Amino acid sequence: MLFISKKIPNKKFRIKLMKNKHIDDCEKLDKKIFNSNSSRTDFNKELNKNNTEYFILIMEDKINISLTLSKVKFYILHILLKSFFSKYQTEFKIVGYIGLWYVLDEVHIVSIAVDNDYRSCGLGEFLMIGAIDSAINNSSELLTLEVRVSNHKAQKLYSKFGFKQKGVRKNYYLDDREDALIMTTESILNSNYQNLFDNIYQNQLNIYNEFS
Ligand SMILES: CC(C)(COP(=O)(O)OP(=O)(O)OC[C@H]1O[C@@H](n2cnc3c(N)ncnc32)[C@H](O)[C@@H]1OP(=O)(O)O)[C@@H](O)C(=O)NCCC(=O)NCCS
Repeated sequence: MLFISKKIPNKKFRIKLMKNKHIDDCEKLDKKIFNSNSSRTDFNKELNKNNTEYFILIMEDKINISLTLSKVKFYILHILLKSFFSKYQTEFKIVGYIGLWYVLDEVHIVSIAVDNDYRSCGLGEFLMIGAIDSAINNSSELLTLEVRVSNHKAQKLYSKFGFKQKGVRKNYYLDDREDALIMTTESILNSNYQNLFDNIYQNQLNIYNEFS
């Protein structure tokens, strides 16, 4: 899946399954996002469970090598270097992730995070699309999650995807005993939900088409 954000021009975003080779970068990102010395998620452990699925959001950035090459005086050398480096012009950076646990016929969204530098540009929404698409393809019945009562931004994102508050878990978070809201969708297999999801998905495709 490819996404282009109007707010971040000239960059492309893709969602891929997280693999072991991505763990170091994801831990660095996690520390940055949660301003912590250690990663809050043990990605290694998570990837080794058989009921989990983690997706990463990769930003593709074209590196401007023409500036460097313009310093090369000899024309032939310039052309050779340009064709050699053309394969390596794109830089990839992990700027978000989302984690899912498949429990019976439910999918628990256990984490979602976007790099602080790229927030409010539609990337969280894009990650949710990737996750829900996967849940629908797995014929899961519904999605559920916990969110801090104070995290209004995330709650707004979840509401957009049809999550509704179903209860409260008192003192849920170990660090500060904050309560969590339990938010759950209706059946993601019924036509009401699929229409909502299709509309959001279509909206993203329209944005992409404007750029392609
Ligand atoms: C929550 C989070 C993933 C959202 O990612 P994002 O890329 O900034 O979100 P998007 O730009 O895709 O926005 C999607 C929706 O989220 C809500 N939202 C995003 N930024 C918001 C803000 N600053 N204020 C209020 N709502 C906001 C809106 O509903 C928005 O839809 P809209 O633009 O149509 O109004 C991101 O803020 C984050 O990583 N936060 C830290 C980690 C975290 O709190 N994770 C959730 C744990 S339960």
